[in-house]
Amino acid sequence: MPRSFIFPHLAQFAAAMAGRRTAAVSVLVVALGLSGMIVLTVDPAYVTSHRWVEAGLWTCVAFFAVEWLARLVRAKRARHGLAYALSGHGLADAVAALAVPLAMAGGVDSRSAWLFGVVWLFKLVPEVSGLRRLRRVLVLESGPLLSVLVLFLMLLVFASVALYALERNVQPAVFGSLPSTLWWAVVTLTTVGYGDVVPVTPLGRLVAAMVMVCGLGVFGLWTGILATGFATETRRDNFLKTWNSVSKVPFFASLGPAAIADVTHVLRTMDLPAHTMIVRKGQPGDCMYFIAAGEVEVDLPGKKVRLREGGFFGEMALLGNRERSANITTTQLSRLLVLDLVDFHVLMSRHPDLAETIEGEAKRRTLENS
Ligand code: CMP
Repeated sequence: MPRSFIFPHLAQFAAAMAGRRTAAVSVLVVALGLSGMIVLTVDPAYVTSHRWVEAGLWTCVAFFAVEWLARLVRAKRARHGLAYALSGHGLADAVAALAVPLAMAGGVDSRSAWLFGVVWLFKLVPEVSGLRRLRRVLVLESGPLLSVLVLFLMLLVFASVALYALERNVQPAVFGSLPSTLWWAVVTLTTVGYGDVVPVTPLGRLVAAMVMVCGLGVFGLWTGILATGFATETRRDNFLKTWNSVSKVPFFASLGPAAIADVTHVLRTMDLPAHTMIVRKGQPGDCMYFIAAGEVEVDLPGKKVRLREGGFFGEMALLGNRERSANITTTQLSRLLVLDLVDFHVLMSRHPDLAETIEGEAKRRTLENS
């Protein structure tokens, strides 16, 4: 078959592969493959159905191979074939397609070779968005995390030397050398406590108690660092998401970057589906809204007014009326930026031109309604 025929078809397939649906299919194939691999490790199931299961597993391997080749062709056409091949994504695809066939070609028996299917798990990494955030947190917090690791290693060595000195004459079989005492130290410091090796001298037990407490402290530190890192990353992501929306609202476009950052800090993003009631007439007002995307409908006596991207509402209750003057509902999927009452007053005092625009519009609306 000529290359000119194969390549366009592979490229088309590659384009289709790019879609979300293909990602879901890929995840499904990985799940099926891993299930098959697990079934092969169960003796009775292997005896009765290994032919069928292996046929299914070969289908999974064929899928991974075609997916990898299609992505390679697509990347090559976009002139970044090598970049894809050497990227984490590309290597995961290659390993998923090649691991089992190479193991079999290398002489590993088929039942053991299928265990190499465990590498298919790597294909899930790009699909889990939380893992990307975890990687960012690990990179950003690597300094503090490494410091705690060093502390952990120092404690490990101190505990081993102390227990070796205190217990080696009483229990030479388990505390007779530093390497064997290290096993006890790791088990104790991680507070796993198998109980297979325990000190018997009073001083040894005292040291063991201190090591256990220190172990809890070290893991507490690691947990704290990771939790703070995650919280910071989540705040950063939310800030970027809100910044993106704020900078698209024409109302804020006249502000400089510093003022936009100022506004972004106090706005919350809210995504609402169509036909959601946002403001109810007669209720006390505690925030106002800017429309970053979508549309809302203001239900006024005798008429309905539609407000679109860049518009704002909910300001009248904050400017003295206290109670909402109309019902407001989304007409389509909309993204709103919410400004709470306290921040509203702070922002108005810091940006008089914004205050003027909002107050002017509120006056115009009041006149229109009366
Ligand atoms: P508020 O009274 O807080 O809640 C209802 C909101 O509807 C109100 O603030 C205004 O933002 C908005 N609104 C009231 N009248 C009009 C109008 N004539 N045109 C557009 N929006 C209005």
